[in-house]
Amino acid sequence: MIRINDNYSKLTASYLFADIARRVDAFAAAHPGRPVIRLGIGDVTEPLPAACVDALHGAADEMSRRATFRGYGPEQGYPFLRELIARHDYAARGCRVEPDEIFVSDGAKCDCANIQEIFSADARLAIPDPVYPVYVDTNVMAGRTGPPADGRYAGILYLDSTASNGYVPAVPDAPADLVYLCFPNNPTGAVATRAQLAAWVAYAKRNRAVILFDSAYEAYVRDPALPRSIYEVEGARDVAIEFRSFSKTAGFTGTRCAYAVVPKALAAADAAGRPQSLHALWSRRQTTKFNGVSYPVQRAAAAVYSDAGREQVRALADFYLGNARLIRAAMARLGLPCAGGENAPYIWVNVGRPSWEFFDLLLERAQVVCTPGVGFGRCGEGHVRISAFNSREKVEEALARIAAALG
Ligand code: MLT
Repeated sequence: MIRINDNYSKLTASYLFADIARRVDAFAAAHPGRPVIRLGIGDVTEPLPAACVDALHGAADEMSRRATFRGYGPEQGYPFLRELIARHDYAARGCRVEPDEIFVSDGAKCDCANIQEIFSADARLAIPDPVYPVYVDTNVMAGRTGPPADGRYAGILYLDSTASNGYVPAVPDAPADLVYLCFPNNPTGAVATRAQLAAWVAYAKRNRAVILFDSAYEAYVRDPALPRSIYEVEGARDVAIEFRSFSKTAGFTGTRCAYAVVPKALAAADAAGRPQSLHALWSRRQTTKFNGVSYPVQRAAAAVYSDAGREQVRALADFYLGNARLIRAAMARLGLPCAGGENAPYIWVNVGRPSWEFFDLLLERAQVVCTPGVGFGRCGEGHVRISAFNSREKVEEALARIAAALG
């Protein structure tokens, strides 16, 4: 009989958010009279910005006419979108990113998951703990780790992120080849300073490593002193790939559009020790395995950069940050220490008990869903993540229920 990829057997049975959804669905089915409020997975609730909706309609009309119909687009994305991204997200912030270094995709999750396949099977990994589980799980699937023990996989250099380092891990003494960083951080909401990122860039240069920088939540950074891109750090173009998304910026979780930046000068060695372009490899990978994002969706993403679109997406992020402020204040009233929520849509709460126990308690007593911190890594034990993505009404109701249940 054909064999499975046995690396999958090392994984916990299901993906964190699938596991939570299953538990919540079971609870909801068993208690139909107790409506659940979801502050677990970071899924947006507010409608698409009007500028994006107008662009979708316009593009749908174009697709309905022979003269303007489009079939396959460029796998890397249409030039009109790549040029806008380069101008607004990078040049305007003093970063040099060329349009042809941008690869438009259907999600930062897919990009973060897929990028590892252009690196060698024995690449040494450094991954923060806690962190978005996709980085670890996809490397387990690819066979870069041993089996799990005590909530960790052999073969990963874990970068502990705790209250004592402000949830921004310092560079380790040990070398690594691939370093995953995520700021604003999922799940802690912490944001690395420019100096902290500069230390990581210097580490990558010393170790000839590549940094995979996930900045899917950069639209939530409000402190002007904090970097929104790793390319704001001198020399980062030589060592870093960056991932961004329209999901949390413009409410595209269901619409699907994101991009990865792979600088053309970025290289890694082949078996003979010769430098090879990662841009060329990623391009080869995408052209082989991906047919691009649909034309109407790329038009909708481009509308984010219009005058109206920029105003609308700013208001959208401000709205969720308003929820985050309410959540932080409510946790403070309950005496629960928390981080995040100021430049990020996630609030990381120290609940002082096992995180799944707190998850069950909140679901049972308040019918509110959070995300157990331990699902993001061993350092997340004793914490939960509360997402600010919901309507104001639901957030207020959830906080009132939590106060009644725990107060
Ligand atoms: C999360 O809740 O961590 C995110 O929504 C997951 C994702 O973006 O894939």
